Amino acid sequence: MIDLQRKLLGDTVRNDAFAEALRRVIKPGESTVIDLGSGTGFLSFLASRLGAKHVTLIENGDICETSKVLAKRNGINNCTFLRKHSTQVHGLPKADVLVSETLGNYALEENILEAIEDGKRLLHQTGIIIPGKISQFVCPVIMGRIQKDIDVWPRVGFDLDFTEAREIAMNNMYVKTVRAEDLMKGSDAIREWDTIDFSKKNKSIRTADIVWKAATPMTVYGFALWWNAELVKGVELSTSPLAPITHWEQIYLPLLKPIECVKGSSVRLQLNSDTRWKVKVNLTWTVRLLDQHNKELSVQEMDMRRGLIG
Ligand SMILES: C[S@@+](CC[C@H](N)C(=O)[O-])C[C@H]1O[C@@H](n2cnc3c(N)ncnc32)[C@H](O)[C@@H]1O
Repeated sequence: MIDLQRKLLGDTVRNDAFAEALRRVIKPGESTVIDLGSGTGFLSFLASRLGAKHVTLIENGDICETSKVLAKRNGINNCTFLRKHSTQVHGLPKADVLVSETLGNYALEENILEAIEDGKRLLHQTGIIIPGKISQFVCPVIMGRIQKDIDVWPRVGFDLDFTEAREIAMNNMYVKTVRAEDLMKGSDAIREWDTIDFSKKNKSIRTADIVWKAATPMTVYGFALWWNAELVKGVELSTSPLAPITHWEQIYLPLLKPIECVKGSSVRLQLNSDTRWKVKVNLTWTVRLLDQHNKELSVQEMDMRRGLIG
């Protein structure tokens, strides 16, 4: 737990972006703030120092106790600490600002979407949510180094066959550092597949159906995912491999078998993300190779539920 908090607090790109977002929305002496998933209390302490009238910290982990001590040490005395899961918090006066840094490497893996949707009941109708928007991106990976790193099974040797273990391993998402050179080239290679706007109601099941046409021959080994969060208008945070480095990394979705594309053929990805509370997080990705007449040449179906065993 403390190692997670240590990593977060060491991420100056993240810290500065959230500090700037809070600075832009907090009205000194007026704003009341809810910090959903408050950890050490960092965002709450910033809000307090920026003049927030009152801050409520909601944190269901042991770190909540440390945040109380840290508030005292820093002379911050306008905070209420609730050691609870946010869905169990009731009866608070409505707040002006709801801030939640519960973003994962896969943006939605810590249930930020569900937590904020539920947290809206703790906010005034005109209340501000930080982050305001989350956009998710996907791009085919055309270099084999990450796939090779994951797919160790054919190299085990000793005349042993690990087919079933491999099947489980390849039905998972991986946190990896994707480099710009790993990505498919071209102006339409990177696609925004999902947009979450917290000023609207958002569903826990998110889907995408994307086709990439090969302008030149290429091998597709898997797919890279990352996100951009608009904390408030004009303040962005991104885990793109092309953006400044943060403590977050990208997500890699492997294939069972690399796809060889000739010029004019297409790769079609159907992606499904389910982060309902009862599920926590499940991704499925179905990938097809189509010829230049859109005839299906191959299909691969991956599902994290098949990757759970072991
Ligand atoms: C990524 S940390 C962020 C900590 C702190 N807000 C910061 O920015 O430094 C997320 C924290 O939120 C807590 N958390 C996540 N979802 C929560 C929820 N729904 N209710 C209460 N705590 C939650 C986790 O235990 C974790 O400590």
